[in-house]
Amino acid sequence: MHSFNKIDLKALSYFCEILGDDRVSTDASILQKHASDETEDLVYPPEVVLFVATTEEISKVLAYCNEHHFPVTVRGGGTGLSGGALAIYGGVVLNMQGFNKILSIDEQNLQAIVEPGVITEVLQNAVKEKGLYYPPDPSSKGTCFIGGNVSENSGGPRAVKYGVVKDYVLNLEVVLANGEIIWTGANVLKNATGFNLTQLMVGSEGLLGVITKIVLKLIPYPDKNLLMLVPFPSAERACEAVAKIFQAGYTPSALEFMERDAIEWSLKFSTEPSVLPIGDSVQAHLLIEVDGKEDAVLMQEIEGIASVLEQLGCDEILFADNEAEKNRLWKLRRSVAEAVKAHSIYKEEDTVVPRASLPLLLKKVKNLGKEYGFKSVCYGHAGDGNLHVNIVKGDLSDSQWENDLPKAIHRLFEYVHELGGTISGEHGIGLVQKEYMPIVFNKTQLELMSGIKNLFDPNGILNPGKVFPTC
Ligand code: LAC
Ligand code: ZN
Repeated sequence: MHSFNKIDLKALSYFCEILGDDRVSTDASILQKHASDETEDLVYPPEVVLFVATTEEISKVLAYCNEHHFPVTVRGGGTGLSGGALAIYGGVVLNMQGFNKILSIDEQNLQAIVEPGVITEVLQNAVKEKGLYYPPDPSSKGTCFIGGNVSENSGGPRAVKYGVVKDYVLNLEVVLANGEIIWTGANVLKNATGFNLTQLMVGSEGLLGVITKIVLKLIPYPDKNLLMLVPFPSAERACEAVAKIFQAGYTPSALEFMERDAIEWSLKFSTEPSVLPIGDSVQAHLLIEVDGKEDAVLMQEIEGIASVLEQLGCDEILFADNEAEKNRLWKLRRSVAEAVKAHSIYKEEDTVVPRASLPLLLKKVKNLGKEYGFKSVCYGHAGDGNLHVNIVKGDLSDSQWENDLPKAIHRLFEYVHELGGTISGEHGIGLVQKEYMPIVFNKTQLELMSGIKNLFDPNGILNPGKVFPTC
């Protein structure tokens, strides 16, 4: 456990010297804006926010903070779901919104070089104009930053066919805790040269360095897609159907699961008039997309998948037959997290298991709910075996919520581990999941990780209080 100093006037005047007064803020309302992300209702204001804009500025700030033992937490779009961007020991928050340039799109090599403050969807649209595709698309793609996505190794619905962020990161420029600037690898698709520092940085949640440039792999844009919404009279049956689709030889470009409440709450939350008839007997939906270049192939695929699902007892399938309908269904799916947040105090777990074990996982969630008296709304990237379990506070007393629920979550995670899964598929560990790390990692494994952390950041200034259970 490291000890940190409080930001003093001398530090503030040094930051002003590097950045200018207008990019150094201790204004209460600015600190408050940087105190929360999208995780539950957590609030941790930093002592100062620095609006950095160049790698050299970050290098100077880190060298100084390292020397004076000030904690530094990097903030992207503030959409994190595990509290990764919260400055729980105060100190400095680096606001990365100034790093918003797409530096190059290389159409010959199918690569892009971007700064970490680029909004994910802005990048996707820019490469799409050139017929290219950057697939990882978290639900927050309209506001999240690509740097945050790299730090969390984000996924999203398209991961089932195209992989997660790690599969697209080729090389990174990183400022180390002592202010030194390095590149982690090379701008190539194959690299067998030494340890893979690039992939070590991906998903490291701001604990090893500050990412300042990202080299990404792109692929050709698959211009066509088909989408269907498949209702099921039983949520467990819907989960069982997931593995069957792959067993039958199909790889959809999205295969999402939503319990009845997930879609209903999202419908209620929507500001646009949006009517979707949901039959009384329907307990869950699968939202399934196929994509590619040839209409005929896609038609064959979607019909093939539909016939697998009909044999498994789904209800009447809704085929989205125009762009507006597709957008509407995707918007409903992407709004579930916000809809749950608006509905109740909640905790979101990001469980992931081998996909054929999904029905067992769902059953366990519901059984624990009965035992501990909580209601849950489950949805997520079923094709990846990644189930977002939203536990809503509802009628639980504060004591049940604070004292009993962690025991239930502990048991859920033990079960996930038994199934060969783990406790986060894409939201990260950050602050809110760190206490559960010993369920999936033993002492040796945790010591290997903390050894790496100490090597990169001996004074522990980078995003302290995250990931490791005792910090
Ligand atoms: C989603 C986010 C919460 O899948 O991961 O909508
Ligand atoms: Zn998700």
